[in-house]
Amino acid sequence: MATLATVVDGLKLPNPFIIASGPPGTNLNVISKAFKEGWGGVIAKTVSLDASKVVNVTPRYGKLHSADKKEVIGWENIELISDRPFSIWLDEFKRCKDLHPEGILIASIMEEYERDAWIEIVERCQDAGVDAFELNFSCPHGLPERKMGAAMGQDPDVLAEVCTWVNAASKLPVWAKMTPNITHIEDPTRAALAAGCQGVTAINTIRSVIGVNLDTLRPEPSVEGYTTPGGYSSKAVRPIALRMCMEIASLIRDHYPGRTLSGMGGIETGSDAAQFILLGSDTVQVCTGVMKFGYEHVNSMCEELLAFMEGKGFETLADFKGISLPYFTTHADLVVRQKARKAAQAAEKAAAEQKKMILADAEWSGDNFVQQSDALAGN
Ligand SMILES: Cc1cc2nc3c(=O)[nH]c(=O)nc-3n(C[C@H](O)[C@H](O)[C@H](O)COP(=O)(O)O)c2cc1C
Repeated sequence: MATLATVVDGLKLPNPFIIASGPPGTNLNVISKAFKEGWGGVIAKTVSLDASKVVNVTPRYGKLHSADKKEVIGWENIELISDRPFSIWLDEFKRCKDLHPEGILIASIMEEYERDAWIEIVERCQDAGVDAFELNFSCPHGLPERKMGAAMGQDPDVLAEVCTWVNAASKLPVWAKMTPNITHIEDPTRAALAAGCQGVTAINTIRSVIGVNLDTLRPEPSVEGYTTPGGYSSKAVRPIALRMCMEIASLIRDHYPGRTLSGMGGIETGSDAAQFILLGSDTVQVCTGVMKFGYEHVNSMCEELLAFMEGKGFETLADFKGISLPYFTTHADLVVRQKARKAAQAAEKAAAEQKKMILADAEWSGDNFVQQSDALAGN
């Protein structure tokens, strides 16, 4: 029987579906709900040492609907990292591990470009009992104004330095979360892995403007009549996320075997998850999908992923992780392959014609029936 259970960087997960950092992991109540519903793990909302610097606004989300308005296909947010005091978070991390000792709880952390701050946040979360770290180098709005988040993720040298500090202080697996707001996601990925991170997660949200209100002529989400570009997520970003995960997984396969990838961006079904795994992800994360469909949604995603595996005869996630990766190549190589196939077909046709070999039953003729029979013989 197929199983979704997996072990990634020593973390034992009942299934590969992890709550991505964001509103679905923003306090102990909702984290507990996630574990109760069967999520494979939870990455808590990103925390920092001094939450007093984090001031959120409302509204802070904007949705893009399908033409019939029945479906949300894109979601922009201008939400910052957690505005809850760090001391409360430490207490909730401890209580969470007491309540759910088997549940994999990952702390998402972010700090300014300051060695002591990163070391302090790692040590204090570690002492509170979390199972692993995700380093948020990827929030595209608000935090970059303080040279944090995507501002660090877009600078491989700074990112490498921070990863080195964190890895020296951490006794736990460390994943670096990549920003998609960069031309070559391989560059920060290489920097994080070379600096000792066990894994990489991708993608965070894509810098975006969700739209302009045609009555007020103001861009959305409108806060006192103004806005700021935010981060785009949900199913509209999935093709971009798949491409970036493919690039990261190819780099891991070729240069960092054994390191891991947690893929995300628009995952809403087991079939979506299967595609991320086929392109090399060890686990998959979901944020906006939980905001759209609720925590229970993990059950249908698990069922769909299992049905896919059983249909294909895969017993474990490892059986199909990365098996679609070798089928990416350059455009020039596609041209060469297509030319080669057409040339082979033409040669086959020419040989058949030369041997008077019939290619369809309508070609049999009473006049040279024996020759046609001979031509079809393999010896
Ligand atoms: C409202 C909202 C808040 C988010 N907050 C965080 C955050 O605090 N830290 C973080 O690393 N990512 C954050 N994200 C990004 C998600 O974790 C995820 O990378 C992204 O939304 C893509 O996945 P999805 O399409 O499943 O939502 C947030 C996303 C949303 C929609």
